[in-house]
Amino acid sequence: MVFYFSGTGNSRFVARNIARAIGQEAVDITEYTRTMERPDFTESGVYVFVCPSYMSAPARAMTDFVEWAGFPQGAKAYFIVTCAASMGITPKVASELCEKKGMECMGAAQIVMPQNYIALFTTKQVEDNIDIIEKAEIEIEKIAGSITKCEVLENKRIGAVEYSVTKWVRDVYYKDFMKTKKFRATDKCIACGKCVKICPLSNITMKDNKPLWGKTCTHCMACINQCPKDAIEYGKGTAGKPRYKGPDSALR
Ligand SMILES: Cc1cc2nc3c(=O)[nH]c(=O)nc-3n(C[C@H](O)[C@H](O)[C@H](O)COP(=O)(O)O)c2cc1C
Ligand code: SF4
Ligand code: SF4
Repeated sequence: MVFYFSGTGNSRFVARNIARAIGQEAVDITEYTRTMERPDFTESGVYVFVCPSYMSAPARAMTDFVEWAGFPQGAKAYFIVTCAASMGITPKVASELCEKKGMECMGAAQIVMPQNYIALFTTKQVEDNIDIIEKAEIEIEKIAGSITKCEVLENKRIGAVEYSVTKWVRDVYYKDFMKTKKFRATDKCIACGKCVKICPLSNITMKDNKPLWGKTCTHCMACINQCPKDAIEYGKGTAGKPRYKGPDSALR
């Protein structure tokens, strides 16, 4: 099975393409996390986990899911991370997680996809993003080939200092910076409710025809990027910045 977590569609795109290539199904983990019904998977064989890189490691929504769900002892696990630049310490996070779960770690791979973190950075022009996605498609095919052949993915060793510093930064970031205080809807909002539907953590509700952000946010950037009216801003830095509408719209 191929499991994915995705804010703006990059990881969904990668998961679906890998799943198609290896003849399996791609499943959104929010099908389980939204209901909090803990799944217990019994199929032996290969499990592929696809998610974005957040702070140089796989998104916590995915690592929490792998920790929480039941998987058969000895099942093979691949971790595929989509990122704007680097998967960082993913290989070590993956092998530690597998050890905890009694799974066999088959390694990690990164697929460079367009930047979606517009609260901090800027996504590229549509044409440049199309270029990135086309290059990614070649990588996806290679990785799917390795998974089909059950090959272990080669990863460079992550040093102890890099690992502990990254983990520390990641912990601080999740705790102190992944907040919703700075989100707001402008007058362009037409109260369509799309942001409510697409938030993977169900963190947005509508109040007086305006979105209201709760406290459970992982900064996935789905709401701000995919609002059809570009009516969401984050602090002062996002006004006028292009929104990333995801690989499906970029390739259309
Ligand atoms: C909160 C956050 C943190 C991110 N951190 C990194 C990072 O450390 N390294 C990186 O290369 N890209 C980083 N990115 C970019 C995303 O990993 C990348 O755009 C990814 O493909 C988005 O996947 P999605 O569309 O499935 O959500 C970050 C994006 C977000 C929203
Ligand atoms: S998606 Fe945009 S326009 Fe629709 S309700 Fe949310 S903020 Fe308003
Ligand atoms: S509220 Fe947070 S978790 Fe939900 S869509 Fe927006 S950024 Fe993502």
